Amino acid sequence: MSPLLSDYPRYAWHMLAGVRAKMESGLAAQRARDLAPWLDLSQPHDILDVGNGSLRPQYALMRNAGHRVVGIDFVNRPGISWKRSVYTVLRRLYALQLGIPAAAMDQHGLIGGNVGILPFASRSFDLAISNAAFEHFLDVPAVLADLQRVLRPGGMIWAGVHLFTSPSGGHNVSFTQYPLRSLPPGAEPWDHLRAQRRPFTVPLNRWRKGQFLVAFAEQFEVLTHYCGLREGEQWLTPALEEELADYTRDELTCGTLVIVARKRA
Ligand SMILES: C[S@@+](CC[C@H](N)C(=O)[O-])C[C@H]1O[C@@H](n2cnc3c(N)ncnc32)[C@H](O)[C@@H]1O
Repeated sequence: MSPLLSDYPRYAWHMLAGVRAKMESGLAAQRARDLAPWLDLSQPHDILDVGNGSLRPQYALMRNAGHRVVGIDFVNRPGISWKRSVYTVLRRLYALQLGIPAAAMDQHGLIGGNVGILPFASRSFDLAISNAAFEHFLDVPAVLADLQRVLRPGGMIWAGVHLFTSPSGGHNVSFTQYPLRSLPPGAEPWDHLRAQRRPFTVPLNRWRKGQFLVAFAEQFEVLTHYCGLREGEQWLTPALEEELADYTRDELTCGTLVIVARKRA
């Protein structure tokens, strides 16, 4: 049995008890604070959610806040599966906990497709948001170039990137701990940067912090960036730090890199 199976009951509990809903609301509030010097989110805007995910958490919150929101993700493609049925229930639960009408979660603004080929007219959006998705995009420069095209001059981009170099960056340890607090039995910290005994289960571009910052700066004016979530300090012994000397302490312990950038006018 995969040790990650123990995560599913916790995931269910997070959904039932509203832990996930609270976390997503907190993220939206943080993003509004980050953007406040450049974009007033109390006014309605045209927003693109890049890699909106099956739960559609930020898509729903931003629509409910009065914005015109479009989401693009592979998972928006039509289909029938048990996983999709489970997500239908989870979305209802999520909406209920946030007091969001079910309509805010509907398919209305969702496009099934690849974020590297955006099917939108140039200069269509004021803001592109993306959470926990950029680390999965296998052609980041293509995504950024197309985002540059579909944003209006002065348009903003807010991205939260789950960094590969962090303890949870291999996406093969707990997916319900933010920050990661415990490792599956037998797993070594930063195994994905070391022996790689644990297989990866999702596509990952394995980009490092500096690569993201350079790629964003090639297309946008990077206004600010910071580490939104720290994890793993407790496992970073001097011996391990020496073994992982190719990586900075900041890279090894930053779970989420937040980048706020603007399209040049
Ligand atoms: C970890 S999920 C995050 C979803 C959501 N933003 C959230 O916070 O719950 C990453 C999403 O990116 C999508 N994705 C990855 N690569 C993609 C691509 N090239 N085009 C479209 N969607 C992609 C996946 O289908 C997945 O739904």
